[in-house]
Order: sequence, then structure tokens, then C-alpha cells
Amino acid sequence: MWICHCKGVTDRQIRSAISAGARTPVEIGVHCRAGTGCGGCLPEVCRLLDDHLTSQTFYTTCSDCPLLAEEEPELLSA
Ligand code: FES
Repeated sequence: MWICHCKGVTDRQIRSAISAGARTPVEIGVHCRAGTGCGGCLPEVCRLLDDHLTSQTFYTTCSDCPLLAEEEPELLSA
């Protein structure tokens, strides 16, 4: 779906920029040029960024992380 009509950028390209590490609208603009024209798409760019960031699960300690617990149980006892 087209998000930035000025620069011809799709939601997929914006998600790709976010996956590559972009964490602000400016960084997303650097990656794929979304939002670098009129700025009319910035609310949607920010919404995509917010969706990504709020979908992340954060653990307070390493012992809370199920991946670490499954992959490297000996590290938890060290
Ligand atoms: S629609 Fe994205 S900068 Fe204009």
C-alpha cells in the first residue's frame, strides 16, 4: 500500500527501514525517503513505527527471556 505519494514509498518499504534499525521518522526518511516531501504521510509513518515498537516484548531480566531460557540454560545459573 502506498504511504508516501511524494516519494513513491510503500508500507512494506517503511517496515523494511524499521527492521533495518530506523527508529525515528527522520531515520526512516534516510532509509527510504518516506516523509521527505510534503510531510503529509508522516502521521502514517509514525503510526507504522509506533506499531512496530509497541509490538516488541521487553524483558526486565535475562531470566525472563524465554529464548535464553530455552537456548542457553547454563548461562542463567552462571
Ligand atoms: S506524501 Fe510523503 S512526503 Fe508527501
